[in-house]
Amino acid sequence: MLLEVEGLDVRYGRTHAVKALSLQVADDELVTVLGANGAGKTSLLRALQGLVPASAGRIRFGGVDITRMSPPERLRQRLALVPEGRQIVISLTVHENLLMGAYCRSDSDVRRDVEGVYDRFPNLAARRDMPASVLSGGEQQMLAISRALLARPRLMMLDEPSLGLSPLLVERLFDLLRNLRADGLAILLVEQNTQMALKIASRGLVMELGKVVLEGPSEALASNDRLAAAYFGHAAPHAG
Ligand SMILES: Nc1ncnc2c1ncn2[C@@H]1O[C@H](COP(=O)(O)OP(=O)(O)OP(=O)(O)O)[C@@H](O)[C@H]1O
Ligand SMILES: [Mg+2]
Repeated sequence: MLLEVEGLDVRYGRTHAVKALSLQVADDELVTVLGANGAGKTSLLRALQGLVPASAGRIRFGGVDITRMSPPERLRQRLALVPEGRQIVISLTVHENLLMGAYCRSDSDVRRDVEGVYDRFPNLAARRDMPASVLSGGEQQMLAISRALLARPRLMMLDEPSLGLSPLLVERLFDLLRNLRADGLAILLVEQNTQMALKIASRGLVMELGKVVLEGPSEALASNDRLAAAYFGHAAPHAG
């Protein structure tokens, strides 16, 4: 198992944002985390990356206990987060933003990998020396994902990457995630776009008030009445 989370708790003062959460992600797997606003999805990802401390529980990644590691140490273990709201540095160039993703690397392949990003995203290549502020929302999301890819992750976590994108760009984003997974990258995807996320994921879990209240194979969740009532505003086509 690539990622093994056991009994994870996240607290902000009196707010108990994540409660005894357990989760596993295998190599090559795409798992989606669903849930309403305030369910604790971002807190979960931030705790996995080390940006907020776990107040209880254990996180193992690639067989290593990373529970107490700093965010850069986790990045060096090749665990990368594409944060909520992208967090591109708009005063830096596209190229400088990309290089930030590789800051924890000491190998000599960074330049080759940056060129690989430019091959994959010609729009970024054309704007490599411009400030990132010139990018559209969709291009900024591609930049945020590319920046995370430059850490050569074994697991990439994404926090609501489709937020604010047009339907066409959302389609492209999901195609990209499907391709990355096919290339062997494991993905933990937090999404509001429940139906699309369940289409590309093998498994999903649903959080409510910090807890996992439903989990299972994507097809089972997609036809689950409780999920349908909560997210699609109608009952599922088949009885759950
Ligand atoms: N820095 C913080 N300080 C205090 N409380 C916080 C902080 N961040 C989140 N919370 C609280 O923790 C709970 C979980 O929030 P979180 O952002 O993890 O949920 P979410 O599922 O990502 O929501 P959304 O769908 O709106 O992004 C909420 O009650 C929220 O108000
Ligand atoms: Mg969130």
